[in-house]
Amino acid sequence: MNLKLFRVGQVGLAVWGSVLCWSGQVLAQDDTLLTDARKVAGAVPPKLLEVLNTQIAKDGLASAVTVCNEKAPQMAKTASEQTGWKIRRVSLRNRNPKAVPDAWEQSALEDFDQRTAAGEKPVTLEKFGVVEANGVKEYRYMKALPVIEVCTACHGAAEKISPEVAERLRTLYPADKATGYAVGQIRGAITIRKTL
Ligand code: HEC
Repeated sequence: MNLKLFRVGQVGLAVWGSVLCWSGQVLAQDDTLLTDARKVAGAVPPKLLEVLNTQIAKDGLASAVTVCNEKAPQMAKTASEQTGWKIRRVSLRNRNPKAVPDAWEQSALEDFDQRTAAGEKPVTLEKFGVVEANGVKEYRYMKALPVIEVCTACHGAAEKISPEVAERLRTLYPADKATGYAVGQIRGAITIRKTL
């Protein structure tokens, strides 16, 4: 009787042990993915800002609109090819008609807005995790993109946007929703994903 109980206990312990071990491995893998995701998502916006600032200094703001229009999607594509992560930008008030968030991204963006309004620092806002949909498991990561002064020339209130920039935006993005932002608000997010 005692022996039987002991055996059952042993099996139980072994199963429990392997569950612990297994979840430990998953956690370690998630840790690596998070580190990589932070690196990848953190690298693209500064590069884009550098290109933007260089172009503004060289040929003025209106010319930089064209650079954003062509270079931003192109840089995301190159970074995707280089890193193996699918990379794009999304916003609750998108300019590019394709920059519409899906349900997971939308709830993150709403959460980022609420947390910013509650006083959290916008640069620290992120969301990540393993997401399974239609039998596909992915690791997803998103990082908020806060508005700084330079952004308001193309995303700010009407008085911040020059007639030339407004004109170019109207031509390229007739359904533009991405103006009226103030410094410190969340303009959108960089969102990256990788199939596991
Ligand atoms: C010179 C004008 C200009 C400036 C300055 C500018 N943007 Fe944009 N932004 C654009 C254009 C044009 C697009 C659309 C790009 C595209 O077609 O993918 C865009 C798109 C975006 C998007 C993608 C989502 C969407 O709405 O399409 C984000 C996020 C974004 N900008 C954030 C910023 C932030 C943050 C700054 C400041 C650091 C900034 N932008 C500065 C012109 C600008």
